[in-house]
Amino acid sequence: MRREIALFFVFVTLSALWTARALPVVTSELLTFTESTVERESFIGGVGQSVGSGAPPFPYPSPAPNPPTYDFNTTATVLIVGANIQTDNQSQTNDFRADTEIIFGGALQHATVFPDNAPGTYKVVNGTELLSSEQFINFTYYAKPLAFFTATDFPDRRYSLAARLNSPRVVNFSSNALALKQLVAVARGSDFYVAWRAVDPLNETRRPQLQDAFFDFGVMSIQRVPCSNAGITC
Ligand SMILES: *[C@@H]1O[C@H](CO)[C@@H](O)[C@H](O)[C@H]1NC(C)=O
Ligand SMILES: *[C@@H]1O[C@H](CO)[C@@H](O)[C@H](O)[C@H]1NC(C)=O
Ligand SMILES: *[C@@H]1O[C@H](CO)[C@@H](O)[C@H](O)[C@H]1NC(C)=O
Ligand SMILES: *[C@@H]1O[C@H](CO)[C@@H](O)[C@H](O)[C@H]1NC(C)=O
Ligand SMILES: *[C@@H]1O[C@H](CO)[C@@H](O)[C@H](O)[C@H]1NC(C)=O
Ligand SMILES: *[C@@H]1O[C@H](CO)[C@@H](O)[C@H](O)[C@H]1NC(C)=O
Repeated sequence: MRREIALFFVFVTLSALWTARALPVVTSELLTFTESTVERESFIGGVGQSVGSGAPPFPYPSPAPNPPTYDFNTTATVLIVGANIQTDNQSQTNDFRADTEIIFGGALQHATVFPDNAPGTYKVVNGTELLSSEQFINFTYYAKPLAFFTATDFPDRRYSLAARLNSPRVVNFSSNALALKQLVAVARGSDFYVAWRAVDPLNETRRPQLQDAFFDFGVMSIQRVPCSNAGITC
């Protein structure tokens, strides 16, 4: 999805240079952006080989005849941190073509499991493995867990490509409670990113209040993840 936009930006920039006509305020942003080829290659929300549910647009799976069951007596809070965050609440552009998409574009090496029955203890796990595990992907789909999402921009806007794509100072941070309906993990060469499909936890047919935006950093805290059958141990 973002590839078209990236190409569009390049096109706009080249057209501006060609006509030597001053574009409005965004021009310097776009010029900076076109210099960051390496980063651009690693921010490609929506393009790649899926480790779960096929290529985008990601279809919403049909439930299996015998869906997995979960024991919620022993659970944990799972905390995921990432960089290059995008929130997309438009059906026309988001990779689910429905609800709100939240992409964590990178820095997903670690996740932390905080067992609910053993306060003060935690376990650091491999985030890439957790987020691409079929059990965790299934759990997200079948249990629609409650999650808390927060993302922010680094003030000088040079940290990530995502922040540079954002119009400066329009959306500085984002935070909301969500119900997660779907998780898609995509591996493409050495890139790995995930896309969550999120709805309002108080009304799962409604989008959560989240503006379209790009951010540097983000956190997703997923509540009450069962300690068995959902990709984690506690
Ligand atoms: C969960 O706890 C309840 C109440 O203690 C118990 O009745 C139930 O059997 C437990 N479920 C499982 C799957 O262990
Ligand atoms: C996490 O797991 C992936 C896939 O198995 C592996 O490539 C990567 O090196 C691991 N990362 C860490 C930090 O151990
Ligand atoms: C995930 O769910 C599918 C049904 O949607 C099932 O076929 C598959 O075995 C499940 N995988 C795991 C690891 O539980
Ligand atoms: C975002 O932060 C900048 C300062 O870094 C500020 O000027 C701007 O008004 C903020 N935007 C919003 C929407 O709050
Ligand atoms: C839930 O959201 C839908 C779509 O916005 C709306 O039509 C419906 O009335 C809402 N339901 C409740 C109980 O608020
Ligand atoms: C979606 O994003 C647009 C643009 O930022 C915003 O105006 C709108 O309120 C957002 N919708 C929801 C449901 O958050």
